[in-house]
Amino acid sequence: MIADAPLVLGIETSCDETGVGLVRGRELLVDAVASSVDEHARFGGVVPEVASRAHLEAMVPTVERACREAGIALADVDAVAVTSGPGLTGALVVGVAAAKALAVALGRPLYGVNHLAAHVAVDQLEHGPLPEPTVALLVSGGHSSLLLVEDVTAAVTPLGATIDDAAGEAFDKVARLLGLPFPGGPHVDREARAGDPAYVEFPRGLTGARDLERHRYDFSFSGLKTAVARWVETRQRQGEPVPVADVAASFQEAVVDVLTAKAVLACRERGVDSLLVGGGVAANSRLRALAEDRCAAAGIRVRIPRPSLCTDNGAMVAALGAELVTRGRPASALDLPADSSLPVSSVAV
Ligand code: KG4
Ligand code: ZN
Repeated sequence: MIADAPLVLGIETSCDETGVGLVRGRELLVDAVASSVDEHARFGGVVPEVASRAHLEAMVPTVERACREAGIALADVDAVAVTSGPGLTGALVVGVAAAKALAVALGRPLYGVNHLAAHVAVDQLEHGPLPEPTVALLVSGGHSSLLLVEDVTAAVTPLGATIDDAAGEAFDKVARLLGLPFPGGPHVDREARAGDPAYVEFPRGLTGARDLERHRYDFSFSGLKTAVARWVETRQRQGEPVPVADVAASFQEAVVDVLTAKAVLACRERGVDSLLVGGGVAANSRLRALAEDRCAAAGIRVRIPRPSLCTDNGAMVAALGAELVTRGRPASALDLPADSSLPVSSVAV
């Protein structure tokens, strides 16, 4: 039974991480993650069928590990939450099926949640109750969005998103061009520390006057990726060495400049004084530093969860599930679908 704070088990399988988290109210008990990232490395990107198979193999051991590490029995769980979408269909199906089986076997309610809203809710585990409204900048390998969060359990409005590549995808593709391993974001971040961010003035997508009219809060990274590819090719054709650290730093600066500028613009124009940054790319050291500088200058409080909570994990799903239970939101039906293109306005399904 739910005594004070509900104990919620969260399952996340939207991409290549099998995440199982246990949360009591806003307290994180355990965050068990099994990643298939190594199996995708030689393809330079996540292969959906490989990810689905890995989820199948990892699901039961990861649930068992989470319970063992938290010192709880499955019967203690008050509710089961699961990512219903968006994400890779085959991968989502594994998590949704597992969550349904657990909910039925335990006789507990099932909460299907939106992956992006879960990236927002997770911050409560580290920094306490989320100020509402908050603007959220979510940047990962699969998504790049600016959201207005008025109620993380019920009212999340998209302000903008990438119109082509996700920010993390751009990091991964540029890393590949520079001969760095997959996933490339952390390697670009590391290389960039020794580089000059002003070495090459790469384009800032969708920041011209006309683009700001039509795509005020949207992002575009594919032109930037092409510009880096052209620059590197030209160097190679001339038989010159490619200054990897300088190119990495210049590329990274172009990405984080636009991300932070548009996030601050959204806060200002919406009259919101709180910004949350989440998703795998939020682990980027330059993004964290620039977001903090620009928010401080604009009088905006910035919240960025620690890197392990920024990347995909089960605790974020449990965190949103616990918030839904606490605020008395209705549970999902047992025919809950896995929806690869679930809109962010559907926080709970
Ligand atoms: O949230 P996440 O684990 O999974 C997705 O939903 O995609 O994000 C993974 C992405 C990858 O593209 C990875 O290269 C990027 O986050 N990433 C980074 C850093 N750490 C991870 N990008 C830039 N700098 C980093 N330090
Ligand atoms: Zn994600």
